[in-house]
This record gives sequence, C-alpha cells and structure tokens, in this order.
Amino acid sequence: MAKTYGQTDIKESALDLIGNTPLVALDRIWSGPGRILAKCEFFNPGASVKDRSSLSMVQKALKSGKLKPGHPIVEVTSGNQGCGLALVAAVLGHPITLTMSAGNSPQRATMMRAMGANVVLAPQVEGTPGNVTLADVTEAENLGLKIVEETGAYYVDQFNNDNNCKAHEETTGPEIWRQTGGHIDAFLATVGTAGTFAGVSRYLKQQNKDILCVAVEPAGAEVIKGDAVTKPLHLLQGSGYGKVPRLFKFDTLDTTIGVTDEEAVEYKKLLAQREGLYLGYTSGANVAAAVKLLESGKLPKDAWVVTVLNDTGLKYPDN
Ligand SMILES: Cc1ncc(COP(=O)(O)O)c(C=O)c1O
Repeated sequence: MAKTYGQTDIKESALDLIGNTPLVALDRIWSGPGRILAKCEFFNPGASVKDRSSLSMVQKALKSGKLKPGHPIVEVTSGNQGCGLALVAAVLGHPITLTMSAGNSPQRATMMRAMGANVVLAPQVEGTPGNVTLADVTEAENLGLKIVEETGAYYVDQFNNDNNCKAHEETTGPEIWRQTGGHIDAFLATVGTAGTFAGVSRYLKQQNKDILCVAVEPAGAEVIKGDAVTKPLHLLQGSGYGKVPRLFKFDTLDTTIGVTDEEAVEYKKLLAQREGLYLGYTSGANVAAAVKLLESGKLPKDAWVVTVLNDTGLKYPDN
C-alpha cells in the first residue's frame, strides 16, 4: 500500500523560487523620521532582481512560439540577466550562450558557466575592470548578434523586450503594494534596461499617482535628469550606461537623484555592517538615494520609502 504523507510544501523547481521576495526595514541605517523599506531581490535563486525578467521573457517567448522548446537562447548581459537566464535555461532544457564585457565581474561569469551556459567575453573597448561603459556593452551586444546570425538562436534582447518591464509590473510592483498595505510614499530604483523602474513605477502610479517615483543615477552620468555625461566610468555595474534606455518611460518619473561612487560604497558598507546584508553597489546607491530623499525633508514625517536590493555582494570582487 502506498504510504500517505501529511501536508507538504514543495516548490516544483527553481523557477518557483523566483519572486515573492521579502521587504525588510533598514531601521539601523535610517532611524527616522520616515522609514526605508527594501525589497530583497538577492533572495532570488540567481541572486538578483534580473531573475524575474529572465523568467518572464523566456516564458512569454515560449508561449508566443518565438522560442521553441529545447532551442538555443542568446543574450548580452552585465551578468545578472545572464545568471537569471542560465538558471531558467537549465531548468527548461535550453542551451544558452551569454556574451558579457570582460569588464563585468568574473564572479558572474563563474556562476553562469556553473549552470551550464556558454559564456563569451567581449574585450573592453573603453572602460576598466569593474567600470563598464556603453561602448563596452555595445561590443558585447555585437558579439551576441553575430552568434544569433550564425546559429539562428532566440535573442532575448532585454533592452528592447517589453516583457522585461511586464515582469515587474506583474510581480514586483504588486508585491510592494501588498507588503506595505498601500502605505508607500516613494519608490526609488537604479536604471539599467529600466525594466525594474518602468514596470514597478507604472504599477504603483496606477494604484496611487502621488507615489513619488525616483530614478537613481550615477553622478556624472545623469542622462535621465538631462545632464551631459561627464563621468562614464562608475561602480554601478548593470546600470547608468549614459543613454536613456528604450524601455524607460518619463511619464512615471517624478525626479532623479545622483549618487557618487563614494556614496554607493559607503552605503554598501553600512548595509553590511549595520543591517547584516552583504550586497552589490547598485543596492548601496539605492539606499544612499533613499537617505538623501528623506533628508531633503520633502516627504511627510511618517513616509515609507521603498527601494530595491538588486544583488548580492558575492557577485563582486571584494573591495
Ligand atoms: C546590479 C544591478 N542593479 C541594477 C540593475 C538595473 O536593472 P534594470 O535592468 O531592471 O533597470 C541591474 C541590471 O542588470 C543590475 O545588474
């Protein structure tokens, strides 16, 4: 006779581990007035916010028939999209090739390769290790497009794929709204492809148009603000490419905040040492910007400011 078991709680695969991340209060960095609440995107199985768009873009390509089951996938990445896609491809059984600038952190290439991805590094044309510019990304993109042309693989195209934003409009935004019980005064996020900012801000503005939506940019590369790029090299890998991304929508933007490398490093350290959260540079930048917003005194005394902890510190060389 078959054994019977009590109630079980089992996820069917790593894909079911994506999303539904906790929201944590950073009360030891900012003790008020107001509160900083942070979405723990490093909890995703690929350890970054980009798992959500990876799953959404692949699932929707399969549904539309643009990607056939088991067929090869190609994408250009700064590493986090690649980690997300590598895990989705591993679970669903797609061969995957990822092109990345050699200037992005080697930890990401290691993780992608460990999950079975073919990783091709494009030599840096402009930046330095850890500082990746638009020209470097374009080099990696050209390499990816060449592979697509040669192999006929499905090209994910995160910078132009609307399902990148949809992932956040359908999951991250509603989760934040539910987790705060609708008590949210501001949302801040760094911008790479703009998937996170555009998707979350679109959802939040539909719930309450008065929620302040703030794009966080590297100081000296504040193109959304409208400034000329004076410092293309910065530590905020995965964001701040010195060009307004196609997926960015100005209609949900209220303002921008610039963050220097020094500020991002300072808050990356504070997150680790005061909050016990070891995270990457864009997480530090988001929290630095949240503090600046609260310090400005422009928000009500009981304001709740929500931002994103984009990825783990383990994805960077220690410094
Ligand atoms: C560490 C990190 N932070 C922020 C972002 C920006 O996210 P998005 O592409 O959704 O704008 C990325 C994107 O790759 C990233 O890798």
